[in-house]
Amino acid sequence: MGTEIKEARARIVFNSRGEKAFEVDVLVEGFIGRACAPAGASTGAGEAVAFPPSGPEGALQIFREYSTKLIGFKADDIIGLSKFLHEIDQTPNFSKIGGAAAFAITVASVDAAAKALGIPMFKLIGGEKKYAHPYPLGNVLGGGKHAGPGSPDIQEFLSLPVGAKRVYDAVYANILVHKEVRRLIEKRDPSFSGGKGDEGAWAPNLTDIEALETVYEAVNNVSDKVGFKVRMGIDFASSSLYNSETKCYEYTRRNKVLSREDQINFVLTIIDKYSPIYIEDPLFEDDFEGFAILTKQAKGTYIVGDDLFVTNTKRLLNGVKIGAGNGVILKVNQVGALGDAIEFANAAKANKYIVAVSHRSGESVDPHLAHIALGVSGEIIKSGVVGGERIAKLNELIRIDELYGPFNMMKLVW
Ligand code: PGA
Ligand code: ZN
Repeated sequence: MGTEIKEARARIVFNSRGEKAFEVDVLVEGFIGRACAPAGASTGAGEAVAFPPSGPEGALQIFREYSTKLIGFKADDIIGLSKFLHEIDQTPNFSKIGGAAAFAITVASVDAAAKALGIPMFKLIGGEKKYAHPYPLGNVLGGGKHAGPGSPDIQEFLSLPVGAKRVYDAVYANILVHKEVRRLIEKRDPSFSGGKGDEGAWAPNLTDIEALETVYEAVNNVSDKVGFKVRMGIDFASSSLYNSETKCYEYTRRNKVLSREDQINFVLTIIDKYSPIYIEDPLFEDDFEGFAILTKQAKGTYIVGDDLFVTNTKRLLNGVKIGAGNGVILKVNQVGALGDAIEFANAAKANKYIVAVSHRSGESVDPHLAHIALGVSGEIIKSGVVGGERIAKLNELIRIDELYGPFNMMKLVW
């Protein structure tokens, strides 16, 4: 069966936050592959540009001008297609065609090729190898740019079921933590209305410390209940807290200003007290050195770069040189094309960084993230806990386990 692209068409639909989103259909031998680009709220400065200056409509217009060039291209040539899009775009960050288009074209092509070849998408990305499931990392309580005033300054408090043996149990453990967090919030604040942030995490009127205590208690209670260990994670999304003029971290909702040294000490105190297994973006996006200092001192906790690396292999290799972090977030749309993201994952693995394949706060219901995580052998899939667009990826892992597994869980040291 051939995999040549017969036609590619695009449209504007809407994401989970109600923003305009770029969706592409790729036709191969009577099969349609489809992908819709997600969007971030706390985006890194080094990310691919989602849309050209003319916006989503402009991106659509530009797509119509170059899309005929895609006809005849092999849809399963992931790296070749990504390179070809860079040739068409000719900017370092997809600012001409838009990173959203690059994402949707490359992911829809793999989807179409997989259907035409009659194999699941993850096998087209990962080839013949022993597959293992990523651990689901889910946002259970949040604040920052994903929720309104009154919620914590820290963006995400997360749950990671490190002791689970089956992916179904891992997904369910996070759901139990989410429920338990609500119960504990209501104990502290009986007037809590059940409000949630963009990723489905509870957005209560709690301080950062109260939030830490709540989630710590919840993961421990659920560990006892399910009989395996569930640990806490934190995404500081520090670039959102950082003021480049004062060079300080501003926790504006609690009137707290921390110097870089104070911020490092704050993170170390949290590690000491709550033993989170995972900490993302504890320092702002250009502080590679600060990441290296923390990585050295934070034994037993993964220090993961999101805005620091922005799925960019060059930035990652800069970090590797000085030991900045020991884990990466992989968001395909941060770099634009799927081929570039696969190269990034390979570079991370070659340097013994763990890979957390992540959703964005603005999502579609596409399940593709599950296949990408399996394909690149991500140790973690970060995809929220509840909400249709979050659970779509996790349910896909459960389906894959039944249809092509059972697979073991990836190896994580904890
Ligand atoms: P974003 O945030 O998708 O809004 O950028 C998620 C994150 O910071 O991990
Ligand atoms: Zn992040």
